[in-house]
Amino acid sequence: MQDEMNGSNDGKIGLFDSGLGGLTILKAVAKDLPLYDYVFFGDTEHLPLGDKTEEEIYSYTKAGVEELFRRDCSLVIIACNTASAETLRRLQDTFLATEYPERRILGVIIPTIEELIDSGAKSALLLATKRTIESSKYEKELEKSGSNITLHSVATPELVPMIEEGKLDEAAEAAVAIIKVQIERVGEIDTIVLGCTHYTKLKDALRRAYGVAPTILSQDEIIPHKLTSYLDNHPEIESYLSRNSTRSIHLSSHRPDYDQIAAELLGGVMM
Ligand code: DGL
Repeated sequence: MQDEMNGSNDGKIGLFDSGLGGLTILKAVAKDLPLYDYVFFGDTEHLPLGDKTEEEIYSYTKAGVEELFRRDCSLVIIACNTASAETLRRLQDTFLATEYPERRILGVIIPTIEELIDSGAKSALLLATKRTIESSKYEKELEKSGSNITLHSVATPELVPMIEEGKLDEAAEAAVAIIKVQIERVGEIDTIVLGCTHYTKLKDALRRAYGVAPTILSQDEIIPHKLTSYLDNHPEIESYLSRNSTRSIHLSSHRPDYDQIAAELLGGVMM
C-alpha cells in the first residue's frame, strides 16, 4: 500500500486505547495542544487487553491503528501501556515501515520512564496490567538508560474493569489496599508509577491518601508535554497536522452507560 500522506497538512492526531481510559490522555493532550484535530478509538469490544496474549494484543492494536489511519490520522499515540509494551515496536518495525512510512506511532512507556528518571526517584512502585508487568518493559528500558532506580512492580488487573464501569471509589480503595501490601513487602518507596492509562483516574484519590509522598506519576500529566517536545523536535511530522480543533470519539462496541462514563472520564465534559 502506498502511503498517501505526502506533505499536505491534513493529518489528525489519533489515540488508541483498549477502552475509555485513554480518554483521560485525549483530554489532557487536547487541553495543552487545542488547535490540532483528534480522533480517539477505544477498542471496548476487546477490553481488557491487559490479560490477553501478545498475539491478540498485536492484532487488536494493529486493527485500531488502521482504523485511525483510515480516519486520516498521520500520528497515532498508543495511549495504552499494554499495547506500548511489546506491540508498539513490532508495529513500527513491520506494518508502519512497509505500509505507512510517512506516518508515526508513539507509545506512552518511554515518556513515562523519562519522567521517572527526571523526577530523581530512587525506589518506585509500578502498578500496571498483567501483560505490561510480564513484558518487563519498564525494567528493560530503565536498564538500557543506565538508571539505578529500583523498580518494584505489581500487576493490578482488577482495576481496569472497575474504572471502565465508572466505579472509581471502589478502584481507588482497591489500589490503596494493593499499595499497602506492596510497601509492607518491599519497604519504603518514593514514587508510584501509574502504568496504565485507566489509572490516571485514581491519581487524586491516591494523592489524598498519601499526601506529598510517595510522588504519584500519572500519564495524563506526562504525555502532553512529551508530545509538545516531540512535535517541536519533528517539524516534518508537525507540518502534516491539521488545525481545526475537532475531536471525535469512536468505540468498537457501545453500551448505553458509556456516554455517561466517558463524560466522567473526560471530567464532566463530552468533547
Ligand atoms: N489502558 C490500558 C493500559 O494503559 C489497559 C487497559 C486494558 O487492560 O485493556 O495498559
